[in-house]
Amino acid sequence: MSNESRRSFLQIASACLGGLLSLAAGIPLIGFAISPAWKKGESQWVDLGLVDRLKDSRFKKVNFTFTAKDGWVKATKKRSVYVTDLGNGEWSVFSRTCSHLGCLVRWDENKESFLCPCHGAVFDKDGAVVEGPPPEPLQKLEVKVEAGVLYVKEA
Ligand code: FES
Repeated sequence: MSNESRRSFLQIASACLGGLLSLAAGIPLIGFAISPAWKKGESQWVDLGLVDRLKDSRFKKVNFTFTAKDGWVKATKKRSVYVTDLGNGEWSVFSRTCSHLGCLVRWDENKESFLCPCHGAVFDKDGAVVEGPPPEPLQKLEVKVEAGVLYVKEA
């Protein structure tokens, strides 16, 4: 092998090695940069208000806003739920989202039921499907009370 061809072989080999090392160093950085895109939004506790204000509530509609982070996107979302004070520090909070196609249900005090305006679903006071196409009951949300404030876990 001549000196000339040895030199060009070494140049190509060092260029290839440099490229491989750059790639090896870059893969974790690329992974770090794009990993939020695969992360699902995390659930969080959202403040529904003072327990004293909600005390003795019966299917009271409570509106709230929260900031949700989904991948790179941070957005303010609005939700509403139905809150019932069960007594003895127990609370029942239902999502208003119909389990069929996501329309918002409303509580009808006379019928003692949640009614969905879209396809006629009826849920009882425990969120169970009584009538209509929903495949599942209304979602009952996890709640906690801290320092006199009622929180709901929002996914
Ligand atoms: S979305 Fe509620 S019944 Fe279809």
